[in-house]
Amino acid sequence: MKIGIVLGTRPEIIKMAPVIDEIKRNNSELVLIHTGQHYDINMSKQFFIDLDLPLPQYNIGIGSNTAIKQISIIISKLEEILKKEEVDIVLVQGDTNAVLAGALAANKLKIPVGHVEAGLRSFDKNMPEEINRLVADSCSTLYFVPTKETGINLLNEGISHKSIYVTGNTVVDACKRNINLALKNSKIKDEIKFNNYIALTLHRAENVDDDERLINIVNSLINLPYNIVFPIHPHTRKSLEKLDLYKKIEESEHIQIIKPLGYLDFLYLISQATLALTDSGGVQEEAITLDVPCVTLRYNTERPETITCGGNVLAGTESEEITRNISNILNNESVYESMSSAKNPYGDGDSAKQIYSIIEEHYNENNLKITR
Ligand code: UD1
Ligand code: UDP
Repeated sequence: MKIGIVLGTRPEIIKMAPVIDEIKRNNSELVLIHTGQHYDINMSKQFFIDLDLPLPQYNIGIGSNTAIKQISIIISKLEEILKKEEVDIVLVQGDTNAVLAGALAANKLKIPVGHVEAGLRSFDKNMPEEINRLVADSCSTLYFVPTKETGINLLNEGISHKSIYVTGNTVVDACKRNINLALKNSKIKDEIKFNNYIALTLHRAENVDDDERLINIVNSLINLPYNIVFPIHPHTRKSLEKLDLYKKIEESEHIQIIKPLGYLDFLYLISQATLALTDSGGVQEEAITLDVPCVTLRYNTERPETITCGGNVLAGTESEEITRNISNILNNESVYESMSSAKNPYGDGDSAKQIYSIIEEHYNENNLKITR
């Protein structure tokens, strides 16, 4: 069996890593294609090193550009690559431009698509990721959904239950496989200035490309009575610099800005934090996996299970609401205890194994084909 994987950004590398391990363990053929959307060493190559992954055979090298340029270049390059490689299935993960382009290109070439982390919906079409999810899911053949609730989103869109598999989320596999290594080997502890801190990540386009929202978030951060460690995404750094806000944060003694971290260092940082403050999808899931309460800087989430199980709250982007939500958790022992003991809804860490077995079963039964 020959499996093609298309990925382009940091979270896709992390969440596909357990699937890649499984493909290698079973001696199947892998064609790994990086779109090059993330290209800085600490946004891309470092994850291949940390997760001991083979380097991609292809790097399309799209770099930073408009979504239209990125997507159209990926699609036309994938036409050449996929025609040449004759893979049995293309796997994509999540909701980035690589996912939309990978799923669409494979579908047009009549190659079956397996969507890992399918079915998530924020029901907010202003988010570029929501459109990517909808397009990828309308092009897919096999849907690997993290929870039953996510599967229901697909059933509601008319997708057959026969192609939906509840497998948990591969982020749990990645987290569990690497946490001990991170605790043992990460050197980041020598760099962190504080004993108690909130781990902050921020990068969503709807927050960092919206001046008003970004200003509100920064006002809240600057006035928070807690220490913060902030590995900063390059997208966010650029937006903050444009508004002359980067220096303002840097000058705040309770905030430590650091470069984007590799996976092991980030796992160490978040696992030792009192709280995760984030607008990231993956960090919401990791916080719950590592028993760290999460406050999400958004008005909705395509990961509602993190809220219903009690491990995450939506604080929006208004300064007062952010401060109120954080204080309510950190100043209230029973709230803190209950949030940090929320049951992880994303499985036990065997998602990749399940995903590989399902693909293999379809392949062995000669049932890995696109139906139109
Ligand atoms: C992308 C995804 C988002 C995902 C995120 C993960 C889409 C539409 N967005 O957002 O869903 O949550 O990745 O981190 O696919 N940049 C660098 N170096 C890099 C990469 C980016 O400096 O290695 C800067 C560039 O200025 C670039 C900006 O960050 O213009 C935004 O990068 P882009 O890949 O467009 O979007 P992300 O915000 O990373
Ligand atoms: N992450 C990392 N280093 C960092 C920040 C995040 O390794 O400095 C990891 C984190 O462990 C998570 C993933 O990046 O698995 C989430 O990616 P991101 O927040 O960029 O995107 P999203 O999940 O929102 O699509």
